[in-house]
Amino acid sequence: MNKEKFFKNSLIEDLLEEQNKNPKKYLPPQAIKKIAKQHGKSIPEVYSVISFYPRLSLKPRAKYVIRVCKNLPCHMEGVDEVVEAIKEYLNIDFGEATPDGLFYLEESSCLGLCSLAPVILINDDIHGKLTPEKVKGILKKYKENS
Ligand code: FES
Repeated sequence: MNKEKFFKNSLIEDLLEEQNKNPKKYLPPQAIKKIAKQHGKSIPEVYSVISFYPRLSLKPRAKYVIRVCKNLPCHMEGVDEVVEAIKEYLNIDFGEATPDGLFYLEESSCLGLCSLAPVILINDDIHGKLTPEKVKGILKKYKENS
């Protein structure tokens, strides 16, 4: 089996694709049931994969999911100030969505992008070498383009 076919058919890839199609970027029960059937898995088996994989969510989030790395390299490069800027600009805390359903903020373990610290992901978009001013400008652009 070639690599492309393997990943195209993997359970996690299908769950991520289904999640990305949802406007609230999560996996509702009907989506889980559908994917379980497609892969010949039981629903509890699929739930166990979802609960193990942090990028998958059972909780409704928002159009844009902001994932912030708070591990040591990002911490050393000033992620706390970036987080404060995000929270102040959007008026939300970790685990919350903006009332307009545009942004959801969540903490992440290392994103594997340490050379770009401090770094965040907004859905699949990488934003690195951030400052409080830079992150506010980025969020403003997402708002304007929505
Ligand atoms: S420590 Fe932040 S991306 Fe690795």
